Amino acid sequence: MSERIPEEKLNKILTSTDIVDVVSDYVQLKKQGRNYFGLCPFHGENTPSFSVSPDKQIFHCFGCGAGGNAFTFLMDVDGLTFLEAAQKLGAKIGEEISIQTSSTGNSLPPQEDEKQMLEAHELLSKFYHHLLLNTKEGQEALEYLLSRGFTTESITKFQIGWSLPSWDFTVKFLQKRGYSLEIMEQAGLLVRRERDDSFLDRFRGRIMFPITNTKGNTVAFSGRSIGSNEEPKYLNSPETKIFNKSSILYHYHEARGSIRRKQQAVLFEGFADVISASEAEVENGVATMGTSLTEQQIGLLKRLTDSVVICYDGDAAGIQAAFRAGNLLVNHQMNIRIATIPEQLDPDDYISKYGAERFQNDVIGASLTFMAFKLRYYKLNKNLNDEGDRLNYIEDILKEITQLSKAVEKDYYLRYLAEDFDLSLDALQQQLFDLEGSTQKKANSSKPVQTQRPVSKKVETKLLPAYQTAERRLIAYMLKDSNVAYKIQEWLAGKNLNIDEHQAIITYLFGYYEEGLPPNASAFIGYLPDERLRRIVTEIEMMSLSEESTEQELLDYVKQVLKHQKMLKIKEKETERKEAERHKDYRKEAQIAMEIVQLRKSL
Ligand code: CTP
Ligand code: MN
Repeated sequence: MSERIPEEKLNKILTSTDIVDVVSDYVQLKKQGRNYFGLCPFHGENTPSFSVSPDKQIFHCFGCGAGGNAFTFLMDVDGLTFLEAAQKLGAKIGEEISIQTSSTGNSLPPQEDEKQMLEAHELLSKFYHHLLLNTKEGQEALEYLLSRGFTTESITKFQIGWSLPSWDFTVKFLQKRGYSLEIMEQAGLLVRRERDDSFLDRFRGRIMFPITNTKGNTVAFSGRSIGSNEEPKYLNSPETKIFNKSSILYHYHEARGSIRRKQQAVLFEGFADVISASEAEVENGVATMGTSLTEQQIGLLKRLTDSVVICYDGDAAGIQAAFRAGNLLVNHQMNIRIATIPEQLDPDDYISKYGAERFQNDVIGASLTFMAFKLRYYKLNKNLNDEGDRLNYIEDILKEITQLSKAVEKDYYLRYLAEDFDLSLDALQQQLFDLEGSTQKKANSSKPVQTQRPVSKKVETKLLPAYQTAERRLIAYMLKDSNVAYKIQEWLAGKNLNIDEHQAIITYLFGYYEEGLPPNASAFIGYLPDERLRRIVTEIEMMSLSEESTEQELLDYVKQVLKHQKMLKIKEKETERKEAERHKDYRKEAQIAMEIVQLRKSL
């Protein structure tokens, strides 16, 4: 977090705030035992599974897994930033928190020219919108939009507008209101004619899509022509002091709340797709601005979620772009799925043709894992009846299989290939083995292979394996008492917890204790920078029992955690042993077998 509020102030807000009050503004709560229950504001439900604990000052939904403290509740429900949430809570208890705005992220106030640029965009977007909806001049454009299937509600929601075909309407509009035309040219709203140095409107006779930055300020426009032969189809604002195309996603600010709640973003190629998707109640859509996905844009998404569904056009260019974006996202440790659109349609066309429900279910709901997508992707431009092409395809897929991290997955796709091409599994395994040998060296130097997680984040409550439950119990006790936390750390003797998220949580917890902060689950949840971790901690807190535990109990949990690690080691050795066997390296096989025996003894 770049914006920091003094720790005491934050603590004061947190301790003087009652989460029950805060949530009550949004959810009708009923007391049941120690806790309050109500209908979850984060997912549709008819029976209350959303609970608020006044003792622990946290909320948790047993249905969708949402959870957190008063701060994160406001962040999720209203799509606020941490700072905005703090400000809102602070206001309730008369504690003022100033928010400095600046488009560059540093703490300097925006300069005069930036201020003018922002103001002008704001003003014009309202005015263009008015022209489209309420004037005769905007009628043709409005009819065009309606005939495409846009509703008046979404035209308003997305502040779509119309710029007059005149050469200098915007020039005069801005001049009359005292804006410097030079600055307006730098803002990309006007262009300067070389001939006589006079100013002209950049956008003339176009449907205007305002583009907002991460704070929700309009910083640019994209203007679509309505004539079919008018080029270019979309005319965009140039790069300016306030608009950097590669670090903006269309609809990001507006989609933020929905992305956080669903823990998933849908990535589109075009504005029209985002708008249609929103009409189809897919509100977590964002789009790149006619360029390929950038690292900055991934950074924006990563602030909110680790899961992205790529929903690009169904034509060859779209599929190619999806492949590229998918790889880039995976390299940034994102979990991705790919929604494919049939008949070479784009998402917007698909929704017009088949409706919202089919889009939700058959496109977004039926999105593929990246690997399943690749199975199709590599078939493009290949004739699988041709032997050469077929062999190339098999090799492409085998290379992808080497990149998979889970043995089960590898096995699954190998079998798939064997079946699909009527090949012997042994032969495929051998070839994979050879490929792995040659790619291993390269892979070792790069990042660890990312495991694919399912996109939907269902709560993994009841049926957790024993070692996972043990880890959660340990965390519950570590949250309650810092001495216990340090004791458990000692017992773990440098070994990590098996679940990465659990390990991350206790690492943060020690950081939290090191700062001298007292055990307090709600405060700790606010301290966690990552939504996923917060969910897990709230889940652990809500499930944790209030009884005291004996030292023996805790030791047993630690033992279970360590035992799992040994079991994994044994499995690894088993694979090694089998490999040695296959290579007829009997000496090595015997040696590994001995190691396995030792490990089993120590269990
Ligand atoms: N784009 C652009 N300039 C163009 C064409 C496209 O900036 N000349 C960008 C726009 O951001 C557009 C995206 O690329 O939203 C996708 O282009 P395309 O698929 O052609 O647009 P659609 O969203 O399908 O627009 P429409 O349905 O209105 O034709
Ligand atoms: Mn389209």
